[in-house]
Amino acid sequence: MLRSKISGIGMYVPKNVFTNNDLVKYMDTSDEWIQERTGIKERRYADRTGETTTTMGVEAAKIAIERAGTTAQDIDFIVFATICPDYYFPGCGVLLQRAMQMKEIGALDVRNQCSGFLYALSVADQFIKTGMYKNILVVASEKHSFGLDFSTRGRNISVIFGDGAGAVVLQPTENVNSGILSTHLHSDGNNAEILAMYNPGTHANHWLNGKELADFENAEIGDMFMSHAMIDKAQNFPTMDGQAVFKVAVEKFPAVIKESLEANNLQTSDLRLLIPHQANLRISQFVQRKMELRDDQVYNNIQKYGNTTAASIPIALCEAWEMGKVKEGDLVCLAAFGSGFTWASALLRW
Ligand code: ACO
Repeated sequence: MLRSKISGIGMYVPKNVFTNNDLVKYMDTSDEWIQERTGIKERRYADRTGETTTTMGVEAAKIAIERAGTTAQDIDFIVFATICPDYYFPGCGVLLQRAMQMKEIGALDVRNQCSGFLYALSVADQFIKTGMYKNILVVASEKHSFGLDFSTRGRNISVIFGDGAGAVVLQPTENVNSGILSTHLHSDGNNAEILAMYNPGTHANHWLNGKELADFENAEIGDMFMSHAMIDKAQNFPTMDGQAVFKVAVEKFPAVIKESLEANNLQTSDLRLLIPHQANLRISQFVQRKMELRDDQVYNNIQKYGNTTAASIPIALCEAWEMGKVKEGDLVCLAAFGSGFTWASALLRW
């Protein structure tokens, strides 16, 4: 039986460090408030004009490919997860394929928000297990800083997010004690609007029975996608009910971690490392307590990078691996929860 294994991992974060005090120059907030509620001290922001979601993904991918001992020309499939695409369409997968001068391989774009990397990894895992591909590049990259409301109006969201990218190369292995043991994907669209960016979109205020997600008043047929009124009302930014997200996240994270362990007849004591999506340090700490995990069994780096959505898991996994916290044979659980709601886990033997 074939398994897929992460044979190379890389990360890239922009050089530009933005501390909580830097944000105070733009909005009414404080270092104390941000650290107390989220654990975040600083985050990175991409160069305004020189860096895109794709270029950051390329930087992470180059490292992952080199560490896998392969070349860009040997990659036979791309899966790219992001919610901050360079273009509304086409997706970043083809832009990365072009930038890295890869062959005319398939490029799949995944948009599952904070769970994006695990959805992408799961898809890649299935393609490897069936023998269809042998060298899959999975990339997750986010340039949030380009689309946040940096006025006081947007402070409950803007302080949380940061930019960055992570990538892995998946290859087959016949070693049954190694690689991805299982992946678990879930969704519940009942609360899709609790954490969302509605515009630009085709929703026509349909989903909440006409509640104004966008101001279409006086819009001509060609204006409906993004009208001046939407921009004037700041309807082009993400919105979040933070407390509602918190409540569901602390229920779904433990459930999906347990699901992965139970599926493999393993226990939390077997875990070398849990890498939760870096949503909020308070959420990770809550999950750690609920799962009765020791400090050395959980890796968090949101303090330095903020929440980088799909990129947060591969960035944290890469950093933990570089620090020697993940070694051959170690059991690692990756778990995510985010907008949709979607949530997911992957259990792997490094
Ligand atoms: N600085 C200062 N004050 C702020 C800020 C800020 N950045 N943001 C909000 N406030 C104010 C609000 O205006 C409000 O003031 P008021 O009482 O005068 O009206 C007060 O703080 C409380 O606002 P809440 O939105 O209720 O803040 P809360 O205590 O819930 O904290 C937070 C917000 C940190 C987002 C919290 O709800 C949370 O941790 N939620 C979990 C969701 C999360 O982490 N999401 C991350 C992205 S989603 C994901 O990755 C899964």
